[in-house]
Amino acid sequence: MTRGQYTLPGPKGVAHLRLLRTIFTDPQPVLTTMSAEFGPVSALGAGPARIAIVGDPSMVRELLAMPTDHFRWGHKFNVLGFVVGPTSLIVSDGEPHRRRRAAVQPAFSRRRLNGWVPMILERTDATIDEIVAAAHADADASDLTPPLRLLVMSIAAHAFFGAHFAERVDELGRLFERPQAYLESPAIRQFPHPFPRTARARVRADRLALDRLIDEEIAARRRTPVDDPLDVLSSLVADGSLSDTEVRDQVFTLIGAGHDTTAAALAWSVTRATLATGTWGRLRAEADDVLGSTETGHFDHTVLPRLELATRVMKETLRLHPPGAFAPREAAADINLGHHVIKKGTLILWSPYLLGRDAHTWPSPDDFDPDRFLDPTPAQQLDMDRAWLPFGGGARMCIGFALAQMELTLIIARLAQRLDLDRVSRKVPRPVGMVVNRPSGPALYTVRPRIST
Ligand code: HEM
Repeated sequence: MTRGQYTLPGPKGVAHLRLLRTIFTDPQPVLTTMSAEFGPVSALGAGPARIAIVGDPSMVRELLAMPTDHFRWGHKFNVLGFVVGPTSLIVSDGEPHRRRRAAVQPAFSRRRLNGWVPMILERTDATIDEIVAAAHADADASDLTPPLRLLVMSIAAHAFFGAHFAERVDELGRLFERPQAYLESPAIRQFPHPFPRTARARVRADRLALDRLIDEEIAARRRTPVDDPLDVLSSLVADGSLSDTEVRDQVFTLIGAGHDTTAAALAWSVTRATLATGTWGRLRAEADDVLGSTETGHFDHTVLPRLELATRVMKETLRLHPPGAFAPREAAADINLGHHVIKKGTLILWSPYLLGRDAHTWPSPDDFDPDRFLDPTPAQQLDMDRAWLPFGGGARMCIGFALAQMELTLIIARLAQRLDLDRVSRKVPRPVGMVVNRPSGPALYTVRPRIST
C-alpha cells in the first residue's frame, strides 16, 4: 500500500542531463548538489533508468531497516555479476542470499578476527621494511600507493588462504587488477559481448585463472581438512553448504570487495593523518605506549581497544571519505520513504558520503578532526551512530566491516610508529572513482625510518 508523493524533487533540462552524466563518473559533487538543492530524497533519470538519491540520516535509517525483499541487489543495472560471478553474495537476493551469507559469516568470527592481529602487524612490518629499503635506493619522494595496496592484498591472502600462500600474493594482486579497473570503466565498455581480444575478454581470462587458483586451494583442503582453521577458505569448505562454484564466487567477492575499499581507506587515512598538524606525532606516542618496542613482536587482539587515537583517525577518515560514496539497490516494489514514494524499478542510491557530511550531525563537517568522537553526550552519540555508516547497516551490511576497521587501525598505528613521512603536496587530493572513492594521483612522500624517539 503506497502513500505520499510519487514525484521526487530533482533537476530539470540541461542541469539534469549534466548531473545524470556525471553521477557515475564523479559522484561526490553530484550527491552534494542533489542533497543541497532538492533535499533528503531526490531523483535523476526517467523511465526504466530512474535513480533516487537518499542522503539524510533518518531516511537512510528507515531505508536500511526495511525488509530486504523490498529491494533487489541482482538488478538490471548491476554490472558486478560478470566479474564476481552469478552466485556472489553481492548480487544475490532472497533465500540464496540468506544461505550464502549464513555460510560466509562464521569465517569472520571474533575468534578468527582476533587470530589475525599478529599476522596484520607482521605483514605491516614487512611492508615498512620494503618501503624503507626502496626509499633508501631512491633519494626522492616515494609513491606509497603500490606498497600499501600490496600490503592490503597480502593481508587478504593470509586471512583467506593461510600463510603458505604468501609467495603467490603478487600473482593474486595482478589477477585482481584488471577486473577492478574494468568495473571503474565507463558503462558502455561494460556492455556484455563475447568478442575476444577486448578488455572484457581479458577480464574473463583473469577470472578463469583465479578460479583455477581457488580450485587448487579447495582441492588441497578436501584432501587434508584442518581442524578449527584460521583461514576463510577452510571455513567455507568445512561449512559444506556451498557448491564449489559458490565457494569460488564468494572468495572472489570477498577479496574483490575488501581489497580496493580497504586500500582506498588506507590511502585516505595516511593522507589525512600526515596533513593534520600534530596527528602523526600523537599516533606515534600512542603506538609506542600500546605496541611497545618495534622489536618485540608478540601482539594479540588486546592492543586494539587501546589504540584509541588510531581508531578515531580510522573513523574520521571513513566519515569524510567512505570508499563507497553510494550503495545501490533496486526497489522491488513501490517504497514509502518519509512522505515520498519511490517507484518500483527505481535504482536507489543511499549515500554514506552525504551522511558523513551531514551538517546537523557533524559540526564543521568538512574538517578532519578525529577528536570529534571523544566524549559525546548520549544524544550526540546517537546522532553520530545514525550518520556514520561507511559499511552500511541491516541485513546487507558489509560482511568485512570488522576486518577492515581492525586492519586500518593497526596499519595506521604501526606506520606512524616506525616511519617519518612528509607529504610532498600539502593539498588534500581530489577524490576519484565511482565504485571505490580513492585519492587521485600518486601518494608522494619523503620517507625516512623514524629518527625521533
Ligand atoms: C573500508 C573498507 C570497506 C568499506 C568502506 C566497505 C563498505 C561496504 C558497503 C557500503 C557495503 C554495502 C552495504 C549496502 O548495500 O547497504 C558493503 C558490502 C559488502 N562488503 Fe564491504 N566494505 C569494506 C571492506 C570489506 C571487506 C574487507 C570485505 C571482505 C572481507 C567486504 C565484503 C563485503 C561484502 C561481501 C558485501 C556484500 C554483503 C551482502 O550483500 O550481504 N567489505 N561493503
